[in-house]
Amino acid sequence: MLEAKTVILGVTGGIAAYKAVELLRLLKKTGVDVHVVMTKAATEFVAPLTFQTLSGHPVNLDLFNLISEQEIGHISLADRADLFLIAPATANFIGKAANGIADDLLTTTVMATRAPVLIAPAMNCNMFENPIYRENEQKLRQRGYRFVDPVTGQLACGWEGSGKMQEPAVICEAAIALLSEQDLAGETVLVTAGPTREEIDPVRFISNHSSGKMGYAIARAAWRRGARVILVSGPSALAPPYGVETVLVTTAVEMRDAVMARLDEASIVVKSAAVADYRPVSRAGSKVKKDTGALCIELEKNPDILTEIGRAKQGKILVGFAAETDDLLANAGKKLTAKNLDMIVANNVSEPGAGFDIDTNIVRILYPGGKIEEPGLMSKDDLAGLILDRVLGLKN
Ligand code: PMT
Repeated sequence: MLEAKTVILGVTGGIAAYKAVELLRLLKKTGVDVHVVMTKAATEFVAPLTFQTLSGHPVNLDLFNLISEQEIGHISLADRADLFLIAPATANFIGKAANGIADDLLTTTVMATRAPVLIAPAMNCNMFENPIYRENEQKLRQRGYRFVDPVTGQLACGWEGSGKMQEPAVICEAAIALLSEQDLAGETVLVTAGPTREEIDPVRFISNHSSGKMGYAIARAAWRRGARVILVSGPSALAPPYGVETVLVTTAVEMRDAVMARLDEASIVVKSAAVADYRPVSRAGSKVKKDTGALCIELEKNPDILTEIGRAKQGKILVGFAAETDDLLANAGKKLTAKNLDMIVANNVSEPGAGFDIDTNIVRILYPGGKIEEPGLMSKDDLAGLILDRVLGLKN
């Protein structure tokens, strides 16, 4: 669990140092313990007190400050780290690290650590493209140092180009993946999420309340654990999870086509999408006008994607969901068998704390043979982890 992990966050002297504050906040939200090391130049951009307050630990600034009488500061920090994260990393820091120069607390500690090192560069675009910088970066990559590549954009110096530090949320994702057990490495997980929309006319559609939160949490968790992840998502306000190959679709037929086109690549399929069971037989070309009488819309059945996958399963682990309002276990049990699933995650979507468009869920997990698991109320992130644990249990 990330709660037991320690990240040393190194902050060097660039304007992006202010973004390291947000990065620290995001890291803390995952439960990791963060200790901050700042270079002297970094303190010109952000006061150490900001990092001290948010990390809950004194900021480490000086090579010759001893944490306690028994411990040498930089060695103690280096040993304590499960991950060393440098954000922002200047060309100066990267040059020193690549060439074994250890003349301050940060460079000394990075040299002394055996933990993985993740570097988020931030610099002027001409510095970024300078062959000397490129050589230094390459040298570090060859030695196993990981990078979160900068993006192109408006730089603080006025230039437009590459060298802008990645967003804190992206850096945080990359850090979490390095801290997580890679127990899904080698697997390809195909996840569906969100609702589908079935258009009645150019302004109206049939849909449901799915936000995509459940499916996106599963996709994110699988990527963090080392899987290649393909997410087929209906319309959702959520940002595509970092590292995940996201395919956006609108209708159930589009979702079916996207899933079936990628099915052969997947070893694990998790179908958390709330697919509309019916669609209008025909879509009006222009807005249907209000009339005095009632309006009848003729509906026809959509393809049942999960049933199709169940028929073409071929050794894949297949996980379905069941959204019910009545007879949860009986209805979910029928779907488990009829769709040839390895497990089904059943939620009563009218129960407070469960179902659509919230951050928590309450589920029962049903397995062939009659076993039922009842994990109780939990965050969708934690539930995503639990589902993947169970999938791995079925594989082994
Ligand atoms: O997205 P959120 O806001 O986080 O909400 C999460 C959720 C409530 C959508 C999720 O927890 C959930 O229950 N997903 C399944 C919703 C659903 O469509 O359930 P169902 O019982 O109607 O379908 C059973 C299974 O068959 C599902 O895996 C579904 O993806 C699949 N199905 C259904 C119909 C269809 N035409 N094709 C399908 O593949």
